[in-house]
Amino acid sequence: MARPRDTSRTARLAIDRVVCREALAFARSLPDACCDLIYVDPPFFTGSLRTARGRVGFADRWTGGLKQYLAFLHPHWPEFRRLLAPHGSLWVHLDWHAAHYVKIQLDTVFGYDNFLNEIIWHYRTGGVSRRWFGRKHDTILAYARTLGRHRFDVLRGGRYRTDGLNLDGHRPYKSTRRGRLYFHPAGPALTDVWDIPFLSTVSLERCGWPTQKPLALLERIISAATRPGDLVADFFCGSGTTLIAARRLRRHWLGCDAARRAVQLSTRRLRSAASKSPPPLVRARRHE
Ligand SMILES: C[S@@+](CC[C@H](N)C(=O)[O-])C[C@H]1O[C@@H](n2cnc3c(N)ncnc32)[C@H](O)[C@@H]1O
Repeated sequence: MARPRDTSRTARLAIDRVVCREALAFARSLPDACCDLIYVDPPFFTGSLRTARGRVGFADRWTGGLKQYLAFLHPHWPEFRRLLAPHGSLWVHLDWHAAHYVKIQLDTVFGYDNFLNEIIWHYRTGGVSRRWFGRKHDTILAYARTLGRHRFDVLRGGRYRTDGLNLDGHRPYKSTRRGRLYFHPAGPALTDVWDIPFLSTVSLERCGWPTQKPLALLERIISAATRPGDLVADFFCGSGTTLIAARRLRRHWLGCDAARRAVQLSTRRLRSAASKSPPPLVRARRHE
């Protein structure tokens, strides 16, 4: 399991658990500064019933329209901010339906200057439209509790552009007037546009929750923004993807969802992960 954490902030906080509660009520029950990372993937204001395998997961329907949806979300932000350690960060996963309105709410609560990133999670799935370009990305808004004190490790991966690069053995470099400029062997630093495949209907990772996110997406966020032993919380945890990713990366976790079936699924997935051999220690790649 994860390393023992600094318990001074969370002396009486039960961690590594998932509860069936409304996010706001659960957040209000937790002590100040107990979380190192909060990721939330709340309803998106899609106006639909989110179903999978013929069963309703949850209703993303708002009789009072956008105004009611935004009024529902708004009180969560100051609570989440209160829960973050000084080096903590909040990552809010949305899409085109409301991300721009929520950005304004978050700017107001966290401060415009504490904004870190608008991550574009780009995927290829579903149909195309004859009336507009295919809508194939989600938006993840990231805010530091306090910019400059926040945890962040540069992650690397993928390939360098090949034009103009030479190889010294396997090490790519560029010839400059001052000599060779060597590139980092782990690849270029990741940017704010992420190409991560959407879980297909036949993916082995699929567990039956309609809005399940890929583990690869959560592992990237957790690797960049936390260290082993930190506490990662998700107050709209659905099928528990964040909690499983945190466990795999040797972080502590805390999950909450208002739907009983989501909590059952999370619990089942976590038990299954725990029954396998201890997770490998996956270290965040740090900028050198
Ligand atoms: C988009 S899904 C999260 C999916 C999750 N990230 C995953 O990978 O499975 C949103 C979740 O929010 C839950 N939810 C909706 N309103 C809630 C509330 N007020 N408090 C807690 N959970 C809520 C829903 O039951 C649903 O599971």
